[in-house]
Amino acid sequence: MIQSAKGRISTIVISTALGTSGRGIFPYTLLPGYRRLVRAVKDNGTTVLTKSATRFKRKGNFVPLNPLTWEYIQRLPDTGMLNAYGLTNPGVEGCAQGIRLSLGMGFKVIPNFYPEFAKGTETAISETLEAIDLYQKILGPFFWALELNFSCPNSQEAIKENVQQGLKCTQAVMARNPSLFLIAKISRVHPYEFAQELESSGVNAIHGINTIPYEIIFPEERYPRSPLWQVGGGGVSGGPAFEEAFNYNQTLRKKVSLPLIMGCGVRTSEDVRKYLDIGAAAVSLCTLALRRPQEAEKIITTHHG
Ligand SMILES: Cc1cc2nc3c(=O)[nH]c(=O)nc-3n(C[C@H](O)[C@H](O)[C@H](O)COP(=O)(O)O)c2cc1C
Repeated sequence: MIQSAKGRISTIVISTALGTSGRGIFPYTLLPGYRRLVRAVKDNGTTVLTKSATRFKRKGNFVPLNPLTWEYIQRLPDTGMLNAYGLTNPGVEGCAQGIRLSLGMGFKVIPNFYPEFAKGTETAISETLEAIDLYQKILGPFFWALELNFSCPNSQEAIKENVQQGLKCTQAVMARNPSLFLIAKISRVHPYEFAQELESSGVNAIHGINTIPYEIIFPEERYPRSPLWQVGGGGVSGGPAFEEAFNYNQTLRKKVSLPLIMGCGVRTSEDVRKYLDIGAAAVSLCTLALRRPQEAEKIITTHHG
């Protein structure tokens, strides 16, 4: 659990699996097990980190109402997933309205925002600051924390640039909004120095880690290329990503002293325990909530707090 003067983050958090509003995602809401999980999240006061919003409406690869795009989310063995969702979302105003409704219903929701650095650093930063103003306006005093999603394309150049952009963005956000509790969500491809510099910049917590690029989990020397190779290969989550994510987080724990939300690959209560044992302040679940919601529900009630 993370308890700060600003608010509380529960020991288990649901990350992105309840959509941009934080109270469920279509077509999963058609499944009774998922609906039961959503109810348990609300009843247990579980913290929900939303799916990413961008400043303006964005059509990614996956469009929930278009079955032709459902191939961008695939199942892998061992409760795994491969996705190239591509950040489809209605834009920050629409997302914030959805979050407001969820908060009104009793969900504990923290928004997640994706600064679009591909538009240029300055634009991405000014859009992030505008987004924060909009969250403040729409959510009022309920808006105490924000997660920034710093995922980036997996090439050495892109990673280096993304680190610089992420730091600049964080510094601008902290300077303008010193009382905001800021969570930086980082990737397996980020060097540990990124987390250390985020810590020096005043970030309040780090969420490690996002989905892992396909070729890291399934290197091409040994495995066929990704079924989603046309869209960059996609990110692996759930069971197949656990070991790699665990190793990254274990080292990360030694590199920074900030509270860490650890996740990626959790399938069971035992996996949660492993992350807690290496110093996680909270543990996140995404794929499990989508693939085996009843197990996610069990974990929420077991690690209540
Ligand atoms: C279908 C899908 C969509 C996702 N969308 C987002 C997103 O919009 N923003 C984000 O920060 N992470 C996103 N993620 C990453 C998850 O929040 C989580 O960090 C990752 O899947 C690793 O955890 P897990 O193994 O528990 O799923 C997504 C993951 C999946 C499987």
